[in-house]
Amino acid sequence: MTTTAPTPITPAATEFPLAFQLTPSTDARAVLEREAILADPGFGKHFTDHMVQIEWTLDKGWHNAEVLPYGKISLDPAASVFHYAQEIFEGLKAYRHADGAIYTFRPEMNAARLQRSAVRLALPELSTVDFIESLKQLIAVDGSWVPDAAETSLYLRPFEMATESFLGVRAAQKVGFYVIASPAGAYFSGGVSPVNIWLSTEFNRAGRGGMGAAKTGGNYASSLLPQELAYTKGCAQVLFLDAQEGKYLEELGGMNLFLVYKDGTLVTPESDSILAGITRDSIMQLARDRGHDVELRKVSIEEWKAGSASGDIVEVFACGTAAVITPVAQLRAEDFTLGEADAPAGELTMSLRQELTDIQYGRLPDRHGWLTRLDA
Ligand code: PLP
Ligand code: COI
Repeated sequence: MTTTAPTPITPAATEFPLAFQLTPSTDARAVLEREAILADPGFGKHFTDHMVQIEWTLDKGWHNAEVLPYGKISLDPAASVFHYAQEIFEGLKAYRHADGAIYTFRPEMNAARLQRSAVRLALPELSTVDFIESLKQLIAVDGSWVPDAAETSLYLRPFEMATESFLGVRAAQKVGFYVIASPAGAYFSGGVSPVNIWLSTEFNRAGRGGMGAAKTGGNYASSLLPQELAYTKGCAQVLFLDAQEGKYLEELGGMNLFLVYKDGTLVTPESDSILAGITRDSIMQLARDRGHDVELRKVSIEEWKAGSASGDIVEVFACGTAAVITPVAQLRAEDFTLGEADAPAGELTMSLRQELTDIQYGRLPDRHGWLTRLDA
């Protein structure tokens, strides 16, 4: 019997950093229009004047690195991303410091996560050098889109997808990497005020051996229906449990979760099927620096119930690039609630939030070397 070996995906291995070509937009927004957008950016509604595009083919590897006018991507209707969702993305922010300089936060972690997502989705890996260079290239033309008001930033959205026109189910041999950028205020319309979350017991986000640890569109698609249900229950986000036993906390639709114990211990769920958040990792470090015990381990919903009933769990918060640190007031489920709907933000929650954003915005020393300058 003969078998056909699967086509190997060539690894990152671009030997030299890619050289980018710039085609400036002839249609860039006027200063006044841009300023009006930056004054009230919202989240994910407005986009800058340019974008990055890099092509990959099986025979050439990564090539044609470009900064182009922001605009439509033209793909054949048979492009495999439309059919088999071979797509991954990242999210990070550019922050304007008081001296005007533009920095981003731990971009090498986003590059590494994109590489891990790429491996899982059988997409080619982009090197960390090229990933970070793509951000610098975009900021070089669109730096004026980084707002300077408190709590605002330019959200950077790198993504990679299968662009090959082919309906056979196999890893694409033609892929595109892109970066778009969107000025951002608070992710939740209520700003930093506490949110309620809905416990999904009917739906799971990801299962054992699935794609839960990858940042891929499919995971978000699977969260949309439970997220809609959460809205009907007056909740801003949905919390998923593990698919295997329906017992352990996983994460929210777009954020990780922390529980804070009375003795100062922070606990955050460990699981193979959730996203290893960069905000989560940074919070663990900042809390440990302050002398807190931090536990990355399995956390059951029963533990939360018991800790809430005994008063041992005193704060809960969600975290992620878009959400930064968002206090959680109440967990709602079909047959129980934990916490009060109007509970104020926790003290530790808000002080960690302050410290993290102070580092990101350059108001505190960058003692862990987390910042990368993008505009120089
Ligand atoms: N979990 C999910 C599902 C997310 O979408 C995000 C946001 O990116 C996170 C967790 C937090 O990850 P990070 O802190 O790297 O943004
Ligand atoms: C991010 O925080 O970067 C995300 O991708 C989450 C999404 C809810 C915007």
